[in-house]
Amino acid sequence: MDALVDQSGRTARDLRISVTDRCNLRCAYCLPEDARSWAARSDLLRADDVARLVSIGLEVGIHDVRFTGGEPLLRPDLADLIAAAAAEFDRAGLPRRIALTTNAIGLDSRLDDLLAAGLGRINISLDTLDPDRFAALSRRRRLADVMAGLDAVAASSLGPVKVNTVIVDSTSLAEIPSLVDYCLARGWQWRAIELMPFGPLAETPGPTGDEILSALSAHVDLSPRAGDDPHAPARTYDVPGGTVGIIASMSSPFCHSCSRTRVSATGRVYPCLFSPLHVDVSEALRAGRDDEVKRLWREATWNKPAGHPWLPTPGRAYSLSAIGG
Ligand code: GTP
Ligand code: 5AD
Ligand code: SF4
Repeated sequence: MDALVDQSGRTARDLRISVTDRCNLRCAYCLPEDARSWAARSDLLRADDVARLVSIGLEVGIHDVRFTGGEPLLRPDLADLIAAAAAEFDRAGLPRRIALTTNAIGLDSRLDDLLAAGLGRINISLDTLDPDRFAALSRRRRLADVMAGLDAVAASSLGPVKVNTVIVDSTSLAEIPSLVDYCLARGWQWRAIELMPFGPLAETPGPTGDEILSALSAHVDLSPRAGDDPHAPARTYDVPGGTVGIIASMSSPFCHSCSRTRVSATGRVYPCLFSPLHVDVSEALRAGRDDEVKRLWREATWNKPAGHPWLPTPGRAYSLSAIGG
C-alpha cells in the first residue's frame, strides 16, 4: 500500500469529508451574516462519490472518516452518505470508524437513521447554554433545537460524545463552568477551541489556550492525561467525573503530528486547514479514474505545508464552512 505521505514525513490517516458548505447558523467566527454564495447542489459529493473516495482512501491508509460541513445534517441524504462509507469499510474488512461533526439541529429526528447507517461517533458544536447569547453568536434563535438534538444523543447508545466550544471572548471564558458541568453530567467530553483567524473574526484575537486553561482550572481540578493520541488536536485532562480538552491550534500548533486530509463538499482535496492549496479530484472521481484520484491525492498530500506560515491574509473572509472546520 502506498500511503499518503508529505514532505515533512507525516502520513494522512484521518479523512474529513465536508458534505455541504451551507449552514443553518451564521456563527460570528465562521460565516458572514449575509452569506449566500454556496456551491451548486449538483456539484456536491453524492453517495457514489463518497463510496469511491472512501474505498480509495482505505487503500491508501485512511483509518478514520469524519463527515463535516457546513452543517452535514442539511444533507437530506446524509444517512446514505454514511451508509456508502460504511459499506466500503465492510468491503475492505476493516472496522467501521465513521464520525460526524454537527451543530445538532434536527438531529433528534435523524439520529436513529444515522446510527443504523453506520455512524459510530459524534462531536457537537455548542458555544453557549444561554438562548440569548446563542442567538447573538449564531444569529439564529435556535438553542432549543440544538437542545432537542443533544437530548436525543444523551438517550442514545452513542459512544464517547464530544462537545466543542469556540472560546470567542471573556463571556465564553465565564461560561466554561456551566458548559463543563453540563457535559460531565452526561458523560461527555467538553473541549474548548481557540478562535482561529478565519472568517469574519479573522482580525479579532480571542483568549489564548493559557487563558482558557486558567479559567478551566479555576473551576475543576485538572490532571493532564498521559495517553493522548499524538495525532489528535486536543490536549486532554482528567477532571473529577470525566475528561475535558483544549484545542489550541494557534498558541500550541499541532501541525508536526497532523494526520488529517480534507475533501471539500465539491471534491477538492485540502491537505491543510490553514492553506488554500488544494487539488480538485471531483472529475476523476466521477469518471471512475481511481488511479488518477490517488495520484492527485498523493500530490496534494506531498505539498502539505509544514505548518502555519500559510496563514490566510489577515482580514480575508476565508470561512471554514467550505472545507470543514
Ligand atoms: P476527534 O476524532 O474526536 O478528536 O475529532 P476532531 O477533534 O478531530 O474533530 P472535530 O470536528 O470535533 O474538530 C474540532 C475542531 O478542532 C475543529 O472544528 C477545528 O476547530 C479544530 N481542528 C480540527 N482539525 C484541525 C486541524 O487539522 N488543524 C487545526 N488547526 N485545527 C483543527
Ligand atoms: N475558529 C475556531 N473554530 C472554528 N470553526 C469554524 N470557524 C472557526 C474559527 N474561526 C469550527 C468550530 C466550530 C465548527 C462549526 O467549526 O469547531 O464548532
Ligand atoms: Fe494540520 Fe494544517 Fe491543521 Fe496544522 S494547520 S494541524 S498542518 S491541517
